[in-house]
Amino acid sequence: MKKIVITGGAGFIGSHVVRHFVKKYPEYTIYNLDTLTYAGNLENLKDIENSSNYKFVKADITDEIVIKELFQEYKFDGVIHLAAESHVDRSIKDPLAFAKTNILGTLNLLNSFKELWSNDWSGKRFYHVSTDEVYGTLGNTGLFTEKTSYSPNSPYSASKASSDHFVRSYGETYGLPYVISNCSNNYGPNHFPEKLIPLFINNIINNKSLPVYGDGNYTRDWLYVKDHAIAIDEVFHNGTNENTYNIGGFNEWKNIDLVKLLCSLMDEKLERESGSSEKLITFVKDRPGHDLRYAIDATKINKELGWKPSVTFEQGLSITIDWYLENSEWLERVTTGDYLRYYQDFYTNR
Ligand code: NAD
Ligand code: TYD
Repeated sequence: MKKIVITGGAGFIGSHVVRHFVKKYPEYTIYNLDTLTYAGNLENLKDIENSSNYKFVKADITDEIVIKELFQEYKFDGVIHLAAESHVDRSIKDPLAFAKTNILGTLNLLNSFKELWSNDWSGKRFYHVSTDEVYGTLGNTGLFTEKTSYSPNSPYSASKASSDHFVRSYGETYGLPYVISNCSNNYGPNHFPEKLIPLFINNIINNKSLPVYGDGNYTRDWLYVKDHAIAIDEVFHNGTNENTYNIGGFNEWKNIDLVKLLCSLMDEKLERESGSSEKLITFVKDRPGHDLRYAIDATKINKELGWKPSVTFEQGLSITIDWYLENSEWLERVTTGDYLRYYQDFYTNR
């Protein structure tokens, strides 16, 4: 495989995946296809933007014609598809935007890939990156396995579930060689500060309140983003066609316990009086349709591909906080919107 297109490569997880592939596989050309929504930030990739095996392509996956043209022009051998609308709270406000990008966008990629290679699929692969949220919610016990039935509860997870089904159906109907992975909550550097961990780090730095939804007794399974990028590499290269892999951190935390841990680490790192960040916690109105608990059984990827997380949560969280403290400029440019001008400046000055 020589030409790999990574969609959504300017986003949080996508930027780590792009960097990982650009550095590890100099023999590949890595195309980062991203339309740069509010969540796309090319500053995430400053360190590799001049690499000879990296190319940025600004395009919208919902644009059927442009996507078809790009596939015909570049003849991508492999697709790693991460582009999506990804924030549950935004999906509650605007479900249609999620259907357009996550469902129609995925269909456009599938159709373009099919049109290009359906005469000979050999050496080709379509990798769809998805979420554990498609499984819906767990009660207090049990884990999501690859066999758990889909039961999405938010417009975000419903749109991701739909796209997973389309990918699988293209495998069954047209023989399109695909793999899918469903991963738990990620955290780490470059995470847009609207999601729990980066939002709360930013708010603690600025002494703003920490809005915990409901009673805070919701559970998520957290995975360090660079470990997800390594898992994606494993699944892309060594996973079996027409297969799904669950990826998780074996790392469940109730939101309120996680927030308290974050507060104590932040007090230490900011040299503030112990307990001062915790005072910022405010319990607010719950998210509608809030899933109680997500937890992944990652036995399959561990047994078949030998993957497991490389850092503990305490290590990963500490590295993450340090990154935000050392990259206050990134955080400021993201919160003020200045990063949106980076693409324009970068490309008009070349
Ligand atoms: P993100 O919101 O940080 O990034 C999404 C990227 O997709 C952005 O760069 C954005 O510009 C791009 N994009 C959005 N719409 C586009 C369009 N129409 N055309 C082209 N590009 C477009 O998301 P993320 O958190 O990095 O998640 C990436 C993928 O991983 C998503 O598919 C998500 O469902 C999945 N996922 C995320 C998590 C998580 O915890 N963040 C966990 C499991 C799976
Ligand atoms: P989030 O980071 O939005 O990820 P997801 O909804 O995809 O799991 O939220 C993680 C958990 O934190 C989820 O249970 C909702 C909760 N949460 C809050 O309590 N307050 C907040 O301000 C946010 C953004 C999330």
